[in-house]
Amino acid sequence: MTRLDAVVLAGGEGTRLRPLTYDIPKQLLPVAGLTMLERVLESLAAGGVVDAVVSLGYLPTAFKEAFPEARAAGVSLTYVVEDEPLGTGGAVAFAAREAGLWGRRLVVRNGDVVTDMDLGLLVEAHERMGGAATIALVEVEDASRYGVVQTDPDGRVRSFVEKPVGLPGRSACINAGTYVMEPEAISFIPQGRAVSIEREVFPELASRGLLYAWTVRGYWVDAGTPSSYLAANLDLLRGSLSLALPAGAKPAGPGVWVLPECRIDAAILEQVLVGRGSQLQDRARVEGAVIGSNCWLGSGVTVRRSVLMDGVVVEDGAVVEDSIVGPAVVVGRRARLAEGSVVGGNVHVEAGSDFRGVCIGRQGLQ
Ligand code: GDD
Ligand code: MG
Repeated sequence: MTRLDAVVLAGGEGTRLRPLTYDIPKQLLPVAGLTMLERVLESLAAGGVVDAVVSLGYLPTAFKEAFPEARAAGVSLTYVVEDEPLGTGGAVAFAAREAGLWGRRLVVRNGDVVTDMDLGLLVEAHERMGGAATIALVEVEDASRYGVVQTDPDGRVRSFVEKPVGLPGRSACINAGTYVMEPEAISFIPQGRAVSIEREVFPELASRGLLYAWTVRGYWVDAGTPSSYLAANLDLLRGSLSLALPAGAKPAGPGVWVLPECRIDAAILEQVLVGRGSQLQDRARVEGAVIGSNCWLGSGVTVRRSVLMDGVVVEDGAVVEDSIVGPAVVVGRRARLAEGSVVGGNVHVEAGSDFRGVCIGRQGLQ
């Protein structure tokens, strides 16, 4: 396998996952028991990446604290931190310079892309087509929130349009947030200001006939919105992609995985990952859910299609469905969270309350 230098873009504010991302940068949110960053690195490592530059700006200290030895998923990390957000293009050029990779071929990956795409095949296609850069493509049902890419039969990119208006609901080939870039492509990034790779650099490279694209196979999701973040967690549990569950997870029934030191009393579980030290009381029903470490689920609780982060308490008779619950949240007795609700860390959801499709932070409803 050829050695690859990678840059992971992880400096965005994660606005679509607020209020969770007020305290935790998006790439440190858990995806089936490991951080999103580890999920990204795991898939890059499978393609031969051993060193990666993590490009930071928002809450950078959290990354250094999470991985103090600058190693994750078997990949050794170099952190580079922007003083001001440089945008997705400016970040690549800055990372290349700061980390001493100027003049090298780089693999660039958006830090919220959870995938098992084969990086080796992308690099092979890049070399065969011979462009200055090659973008991985996937086909999605609703292209409007992505970069839409049109190619010629030989793979050359004819047009790249970021988040086109007037396309809602239309399927199309889109930018899968993974690029192979030669130094020539990186030299097109203007210096000294914020630059969007999608709005400036790719359209420019395409107009010069230097940009190519290659459709990748396998599982792919941009986990940057509440619904796609939830989907990434649940798909991983279902085994829809070949990424690993956290070390030490032991099978405890069909589709049920439990980490050490859990206590589970007569609970009914289906497609669940239960984190270390969590306790589930009698008649708790948990289906299609990721439960963090040190959670406590009371008697008669129901949790379905949801993610509960570390230290969450769900009191007796409460229901959590299709929702994301941040760390150390308390869901009071008989409360109900449903329909895509997102609860930020440390919030107390009052007993008996009923929330559907809302975002709740420490200041209340958002
Ligand atoms: N270092 C740094 N600096 N990183 C940044 C900055 C910045 O100024 N801005 C964004 N990022 C990081 C984010 O943290 C994220 O990991 C990645 O760049 C992409 O940003 P998103 O905000 O997630 O972009 P998006 O999801 O709307 O769209 C992008 O991804 C889609 C597929 O995943 C685009 O690349 C689309 O074209 C693409 O289809
Ligand atoms: Mg994204």
